[in-house]
Amino acid sequence: MKTISTIDDVQTLLAEHRYVTDRTLAVSIYLAATLGRPLFLEGEAGVGKTEVAKVLAAGLGRRLIRLQCYEGLDVNHAVYEWNYAKQILHIRLAEAQAGEHERARIEREIFGPEFLIKRPLLQAIDDADGAPAVLLIDEIDRADEEFEAFLLELLSDFQVTVPEIGTFTAATPPLVVLTSNRTREVHDALKRRCLYHWIDYPDVAREARIVESKVPGVGHRLALEAAALVASLRSDSFYKHPGVAETIDWAAALVALGKTALDERAVSETIGCLLKYQEDVAKAKDTALGARVERAQKVASQA
Ligand SMILES: Nc1ncnc2c1ncn2[C@@H]1O[C@H](COP(=O)(O)OP(=O)(O)OP(=O)(O)O)[C@@H](O)[C@H]1O
Ligand SMILES: [Mg+2]
Repeated sequence: MKTISTIDDVQTLLAEHRYVTDRTLAVSIYLAATLGRPLFLEGEAGVGKTEVAKVLAAGLGRRLIRLQCYEGLDVNHAVYEWNYAKQILHIRLAEAQAGEHERARIEREIFGPEFLIKRPLLQAIDDADGAPAVLLIDEIDRADEEFEAFLLELLSDFQVTVPEIGTFTAATPPLVVLTSNRTREVHDALKRRCLYHWIDYPDVAREARIVESKVPGVGHRLALEAAALVASLRSDSFYKHPGVAETIDWAAALVALGKTALDERAVSETIGCLLKYQEDVAKAKDTALGARVERAQKVASQA
């Protein structure tokens, strides 16, 4: 298992796993790892928030434990629940064998560790095998505020108490990455516990490097032109701007069509890789798409 000792270590780790970024994110990751604080990543959709946790787990040789948040997420799905089906089966078998008078013993048994289903947060804390995990709490803005309050407590002491069994404490706290698309503001109390980092859209040169690292067969010119065109879409008002994920998909589509440079027809035919609302597609096509392509090519040639 690798460790993080310097900011350079983080930069190397990210580069080795084809995550293209600037030093500021590496500094935030370094500090989160060194100070043992959760890293709270915010940014538009598809800018590479979730990928940070995946890359850290892969680079550090740690387990990635992911908790995907959604409205209504509760402790049963996030921390632990009892395996009712297995408990009932056990009761039936035990009663058949030992008779009803053994009820107290049977009751003790069915609330033992083998009937406990560990959900992501407990898995991340229960590091009995000595390997701290990377815990990804993805899209926290989708969870309810009550869940956020619960999380606050968990992130401060990395302990979970199961009344029937006892308290689980992480020997080495996991490296925690929280992400949010900012569909709602997360409470200050939770933010206060974390190091905050906003991931912005990359500039054209960096987005082209991301495309080159992720799309086999894409040439430098096409990568730059694609990044420049996406940047131009982001500077206009659309209902939903394309993220880096969309740029990658789009570049792969252009490569699949045998393109080495942009042309208006190819952009028009593949625009659905970038814009996912009919109104946005219509607007892009109606607002001088040819001129937009030419501008992108000019920007690319100067980058
Ligand atoms: N800086 C980057 N370097 C390399 N790949 C990147 C980078 N940013 C994004 N990607 C790629 O873009 C895709 C989307 O990234 P990811 O899923 O992490 O975005 P996200 O911010 O979590 O999006 P969402 O808010 O929709 O969940 C992934 O395939 C990832 O590999
Ligand atoms: Mg994500």
